[in-house]
Amino acid sequence: MKELILAANWKMHKTNQETREYLRKFKAMQEEFNSTEVVFCPPFTSLRTADEELYSTFFKLGAQNMVWESEGAYTGEISPLMLKDLGVRYVIIGHSERRWILGETHEQINKKLQAVFEYNLIPIYCVGETEEVRQAGETESMILKQIEEGFQGIDFSGVKNIVIAYEPVWAIGTGLTASGEDARHASACIKEKMDNYINGDVTRLKILYGGSVKKENIGEFVSEAGIHGALVGGASLQVDSFVGIIRAAQEALRK
Ligand code: 13P
Repeated sequence: MKELILAANWKMHKTNQETREYLRKFKAMQEEFNSTEVVFCPPFTSLRTADEELYSTFFKLGAQNMVWESEGAYTGEISPLMLKDLGVRYVIIGHSERRWILGETHEQINKKLQAVFEYNLIPIYCVGETEEVRQAGETESMILKQIEEGFQGIDFSGVKNIVIAYEPVWAIGTGLTASGEDARHASACIKEKMDNYINGDVTRLKILYGGSVKKENIGEFVSEAGIHGALVGGASLQVDSFVGIIRAAQEALRK
């Protein structure tokens, strides 16, 4: 069975108390999920609480962003060193909400990806087209451009794990989803491009789908050979719905 990754992006949701309650409820079912790489990405303010709860489980901790320096005059930012100190293993980089709402540039994204590798963290690098780009039939060129810009100048020789999430912007939080076929096509295009960087060693690369994932549609995505799991927003905020997604994904892979 292929390795399944299900990452919960909580975005700007949950206090420390809510984080603790959620993870305690989730942990009570941990035996059921120990063959799946489950990653929780709470807001920065809940990372310590999440680390306390996830410590001694199989589940991994992720952050939603970081800056590229270990320390310095970057008011309001969080460094890779600080994240590592809190037990963080994964970092979401280049999420469309950061690109399109908060004005993150591809130069910044590129520096963040360099720093992720330098600190031995695993990126969940988000790529995906906007509605206008999709309408114009330019999805593939936008994904390729985001990959080229994100990974420009990076030395992949010591890089063991890269996660890329294909998240079409028009599918995020809208209830609309790409089809399994769209995801397969995006995955093939990502893989072909990444092959050049990782010398064909595709075991280092995992590709996720993100955008209105729920238990009713996860099976369609993970059944595609090139899709290793999902980055889940809204439906990861309640334990029951996230657990439903993990169970449905595991079930789809058993078929
Ligand atoms: P939704 O699952 O709420 O559409 O969000 C997807 C996402 O942005 C995950 O990073």
